[in-house]
This record gives sequence, structure tokens and C-alpha cells, in this order.
Amino acid sequence: MSRFSEPQDPVFARLNTSLSFDRRLWHHDIAQSRAHARMLAAQRIIGDEDRDALLAALAAVEDELVADAFAFQAGDEDIHMAIERRVIEIAGAVGGKLHTARSRNDQVVTDVALFTRDSAGHAARAVDALAQALIDAAAAHLDWPLPGYTHLQRAQPVYLSHHLLAYVWMLLRDRERFAFAESQTAALPLGAGALAGVNFDTDRFSVAAELGFERVAPNSIDAVSNRDFILDYLSAAATCATHLSRLGAELVLWSSEEFGFVTLPDAWTSGSSIMPQKKNPDAAELLRAKAPRIVGHLGALHGVMHALPLTYNKDLQEDKEHLFDTVDTLDVCLAAAAGMIRGARFDAARMSAAASDDLIAATDVADHLVKQGVPFRASHGIVAGLVRVAVDSGRPLAELTDEELAAASERLDPAAFRALLAQSSWLESKVSVGGTALARVREQLQAARSALARNAA
Ligand code: ARG
Repeated sequence: MSRFSEPQDPVFARLNTSLSFDRRLWHHDIAQSRAHARMLAAQRIIGDEDRDALLAALAAVEDELVADAFAFQAGDEDIHMAIERRVIEIAGAVGGKLHTARSRNDQVVTDVALFTRDSAGHAARAVDALAQALIDAAAAHLDWPLPGYTHLQRAQPVYLSHHLLAYVWMLLRDRERFAFAESQTAALPLGAGALAGVNFDTDRFSVAAELGFERVAPNSIDAVSNRDFILDYLSAAATCATHLSRLGAELVLWSSEEFGFVTLPDAWTSGSSIMPQKKNPDAAELLRAKAPRIVGHLGALHGVMHALPLTYNKDLQEDKEHLFDTVDTLDVCLAAAAGMIRGARFDAARMSAAASDDLIAATDVADHLVKQGVPFRASHGIVAGLVRVAVDSGRPLAELTDEELAAASERLDPAAFRALLAQSSWLESKVSVGGTALARVREQLQAARSALARNAA
């Protein structure tokens, strides 16, 4: 019997179905059904023979799914109903006992929690792998100077190691965010039933233990309504993807003819269909452009959840594609970033030439005057005047005459001034903790390695 007097409108069926995407939850759906069937028997809610028949049918269904031989049918609305239909076909009427003391509402959120837990762990490991690639690149280019930029204008020179390590710290924070998202999947929703709990004396703790949950969700209403852990995962992913977009953007700039700081490996670039000379940094460009897509998924799920009345609403089915696409997109982006960094060849001469423009030492000259007692704001003005004279006459600062220096400030000793413009002193004077002086970068590298090793432990 059915409650309905007419079949579903085919357009409604198309709107309503989630099978095309939620089939990727089958693995978790079978695992939870196994745990559920065992618990039902242990609690004497079904008999041991029923349990054995259910487990045998589930194993057969699993084999079909593994072999890609599972015959999905037009009427299968989602993966849960498809698996249950097949269990009943295989086991007979006893198959219908599988859904005792369970609703699709607590079932689906349990599957998605398991999926999110796995995905967050996977992302954390991929983030570690990229951080390791960056650490290795930093160690290999410890004392290679290049300009550091603000406003994309040359600002102060830094070592390449220092610049690469900046990304490592971003990733180490991403790592914590993924760990947090994972921690938010630790409460088992199953057992909440449709929303109010179930009419059977179930043992949620044994199910939790079998499925690797640390505890059971304490409120059935919250349990079936909660998708916070997906928001947490998407939020971690959005921030991480945004970091990758900055890395991608820099690789695009740096690999341009204009910068020439890096040559990307051929394996990560592509040619042009018309211009034979082109070697395009498509992978780096896509790192740039994939981030807003992930941020969009986060925004979209916030939209789905916004003002949603408790408890389960079909709106919640819209959590999955945002989650799945994010998992896939982030996965390929993290792997691509690591591949590009591992294969990148940096150009010491181009970077150091760019960092040797002595205008980049203007702050150091200003600080030199400060150390002689000139207030910083005044010294800033004096050096700005020198820069203007140099730029207007097309000379580097080092070629300003003694008279020009004296005219700017009587505190400016020409010999000391020119000594200061010797390139390495601009970097090696940045001795503050976290600064670019080599000793500080070495400390930083060590700290980054330890932080990464703690993740692995
Ligand atoms: N496919 C559904 C989803 O993803 C499963 C839960 C359906 N529950 C319901 N009461 N119709 O959310």
C-alpha cells in the first residue's frame, strides 16, 4: 500500500533525487547498517538469525557496489533507499527489519558525519604534504634574496626561504582548522530516529564504538538538524583554498617574463593552441580560481541552513554536493600545489637583481638616521627626498654625491650611507624574532619542522 494516489511527477522525481551524488556515501551507509543490525540483535530487538540474514545481504550488496555491478533503479530516490531495496530483494522480507529503530534522517547525517571525518583527516594529511614540500624548498633556498612586496611594489628584501615559510604557517593553521572540523564529527547522530528518539531500547554507545564515534549526540532534535561539522569543514577548506589562491597567484606572477623568478615544471604547464612560444601556468591560475568556488560552497550551505526550522527539512539534502565538490576540488588543488612547488626552479640571479635595486634599502637608511638620534618621521622625510633626487636623475641611491647627501641631512655620513647599501646588510639587519635575518629564518625553519612533526605524531 502507498499513501499516494498518483505516481510522482517525473520532474519532481528529478528534483528530489540525490542518488547521482549521494551514492558516494555507500561505503559509510553499509558500515552503519552493519553496526545498526548488530546492535538491534544484541538488544534483542531482532533475532540473531535476522541479524545474520541482514549482514549476509549487506555483504552481497557491498560486493555488488565494489564491483560496480549494483543495478540502481529509476525509483531509487537516494543511496539509503537503493541499498535497503536491494537488501530486501536479497534477504526477502526479513530485509525490511534493517530500518527498525532508524530513520533516514539520523541515517543520512551519520553517513555524512563519517564522510566528513574521513575528508577532514585526508585534507589534513594533504596540507602536511604541501607544507613539507614548502619546507624542503625553503631549506634548499635558505639565503636567496628577492624583494618582498607591499602593494606589489618592491618594499624590502627578504630571503626566499622566509617567503616560502610564510605559506607553511598558513598551512599549519589550516591543519588546525581541519582537525577542529574532524573533532566536530565525534558525536553519533544515529539513534535520534526521525527527530524524537525511537520506540526501542537501543544501545547507541555500541554503535558509536563500532563506527569510531567518541560519544553519542545528546539531543535527538539537534542530531538530525546538525550540519555544523560540514560548515566547519567547508570553512577550513575555504580558508585553505584562499591560501592556495595566493600561492597560485604568486607563481603566476613570478613565472612571468616580467618577474622571471621561477620556472614552473613543464609537467604543470601547458602550451597555447596558437602561440608556439607560450608556456602557460594554467595549474597555478586554477589554484587562484578554484578558491572562490569553495568559498561559494561555504556560502551556499550557510544559505541552506539559514533560518531553517528544526528539525529535518529536505533542504538538508543540499549539503552534499557542496561538500563533495569541495572535497574533490581541495584535494586536487593541494596535490597540484605540492607538485608545482616540488618541481619549481627558482632563478637566483633574477631575484637577486630585483632585490639589488638600492631604493629597496630606503627604510634601512631612515633607520640608520634614527640610530643617530633623528626622529623616525623626520628621517623618513629626509630619505624620501634622497629617493626623489635619485629617481629624478635616474641613479641608484649609492651614486648620490657627498654634496647631495649633505644637503639632505648633516647627520648623513656618506661612507656609512654607502656601506649600508651593500645588499646583505639590508637582510641581515632584520634580526627581530620572525625577521628575515638568516639566523632567524633558520630558527623559523626549525620551528616549522617541529610543528609539522607534531602533526605527524
Ligand atoms: N536523501 C536525503 C538527504 O540527503 C535522505 C534523508 C531523507 N529524509 C526524509 N525525511 N525525506 O537528506
